[in-house]
Amino acid sequence: MSAGRRTGAFPNVVRDVSKLNDMKNYMPSLNRKTRQRFDRIAPIFDLMEWPMERLFMGAWRKRALSELGNGRLLEVGVGTGKNMPLYPPGTTVSAVDISRKMLLRARRRVDRHHHGEIQLMMADVQALPFASGTFDQALATFTFCSVPDPVQGLCEVGRVVRPGGVIVMLEHMQPQSLWLGKLFDFLNPLVIRILGDNINRKTLENVQSAGLRIRRVIDVKGDIVRIIIATAGACEK
Ligand SMILES: C[S@@+](CC[C@H](N)C(=O)[O-])C[C@H]1O[C@@H](n2cnc3c(N)ncnc32)[C@H](O)[C@@H]1O
Repeated sequence: MSAGRRTGAFPNVVRDVSKLNDMKNYMPSLNRKTRQRFDRIAPIFDLMEWPMERLFMGAWRKRALSELGNGRLLEVGVGTGKNMPLYPPGTTVSAVDISRKMLLRARRRVDRHHHGEIQLMMADVQALPFASGTFDQALATFTFCSVPDPVQGLCEVGRVVRPGGVIVMLEHMQPQSLWLGKLFDFLNPLVIRILGDNINRKTLENVQSAGLRIRRVIDVKGDIVRIIIATAGACEK
């Protein structure tokens, strides 16, 4: 599934993602909608999130990435590559996203910041193009709020990470409070149009449904934004 010209100091850096456009023909309609939404948002994504990034998201990312260990890393829903400057130096990374335009922005960050080997691929987390147990660890930040079938995506992450390998997720989710939960349900259609995110996902339950073993949950903003540290388990989906 990887495509594009590989050049330069990092042989695994995909320099040309233009051919990956072909993949859209194989996507079911929900995926296509997600992809189109993020392709549309890509040029202003970093600008839109800049204040939140400066105020708190940047610190949350650092906290989440500090949970990673050594070994080959898969990042799913890499977006514009905001985590790249925070990867430990020398890490070998495969980073996937469904949106070509988000990936093109991520490629610029690779060129600016990354000091290891990174492979950018257009791929669907719900059907990852990797053999089982390929990776030692995986990372997702604010990804499973936009994946059409998050449980399927989480199953796939669990499949491609070796048994015992750590899976770190930084995600926002629906709060447990009844009234706040209802408010999030009410606002969801608006937020998804503007930012492409569902704010009412039950991500902790989804992680469990995907058969991942939750090792630790760190509440970084009440029960709305959490770091979930899990290991791969058997997915029965
Ligand atoms: C809210 S953005 C977060 C981007 C990045 N992880 C960050 O922390 O800034 C969600 C990302 O998930 C990607 N995405 C959504 N559905 C996906 C799927 N099925 N497979 C791969 N990536 C997907 C979107 O294209 C988008 O780049």
